Amino acid sequence: GSCAVVIVAAGSGQRLGFGVPKARVPLAGQPMLLLAIRGVIKTGVAAQICVAITADDPELAVICASGAHEALAAGILFSVVDGGAERSDSVAAALAVVAQGVETVMIHDAARPLTPSGVFHRVAGALRDGAKAVIPALAVVDTIKTVEPAQLPATGAGVEKVVGTPARQVLRAVQTPQGFKLATLRQAHAHALTLTPSELAAITDDAMMVEALGEEVFVVQGSTHSLKITSPTDLLLAEALLEGPLR
Ligand code: C5P
Repeated sequence: GSCAVVIVAAGSGQRLGFGVPKARVPLAGQPMLLLAIRGVIKTGVAAQICVAITADDPELAVICASGAHEALAAGILFSVVDGGAERSDSVAAALAVVAQGVETVMIHDAARPLTPSGVFHRVAGALRDGAKAVIPALAVVDTIKTVEPAQLPATGAGVEKVVGTPARQVLRAVQTPQGFKLATLRQAHAHALTLTPSELAAITDDAMMVEALGEEVFVVQGSTHSLKITSPTDLLLAEALLEGPLR
C-alpha cells in the first residue's frame, strides 16, 4: 500500500538557543527541515510528504517551497499544514490532508534530519509484514532511574531521590519515523479526544496513542545517526556526521 510520511516541524526548539525555530536552524549551511525533507525523498518510501510547520513563518514557507519542488520532481505529492500547540496536534493536522489511497503513514521528527534510509526501510518492512504499529529504537546505554522530589536531610535543600530502577535490558530509546496503518493511527487520534488534558500531556510519542488502544507496537532497530537534535552539542555532532567520514 502507498505510504505518506508526515514531518513534524512546528516546535520552537528553544533549547538549541539559536533564536529561530529549530526547523530553520542551519546544519552545514542547510536548514534542518530541508535536510529532513531530502532525507525522506531519498528513501523512496513516500508517495506523499506532509510537513507541519509553525503558522505565519514566511522563511519556513520558503524552505517548504524548495522541498516541494524537489519532492514533485521525484513524483511525490507534497503538502504543508499549520502545526498545533502540542506535537499530537501537529500530527492530527497532517493526518487530515493525507491523500486518498494512502494505507500507511510514518511520523517523523524534523529534528532527526540525518536518519538513514535503512531505518525507513525497516519500518516499512514491518508494516508490510503485518504490523499495525512499528517504531525504531536503540538499547539504552545509561542506567535509567525514576525519581521524585526530595530534600537533603541536614539542610532541606530541594533535590530528587530515586524511586526505582527499571531493568536496563528491557528498556529502549525510541526514535522516529514511527510507522502505522493509517486507519490505526486515525483510530488512536479519535480515542485521544476522550482523554483529559493531563493524560494528553503525558503522551510523548505517536506509539503511546496506539498502545492506549491495546494494539501491539513492534520495534525495529534504530540508528545512532537518528539523533534528535535538541542541544548545542547535538548540533556539533550532527554537523560532524554530515560532513565527516562517518556519513
Ligand atoms: O519538542 P520536541 O523536540 O519533542 O519535538 C519533536 C518534533 O515535534 C520536532 O520535530 C518538532 O518540530 C515537532 N513539534 C511539532 N509541533 C509541536 C511541537 C513539536 O511539530 N507543537
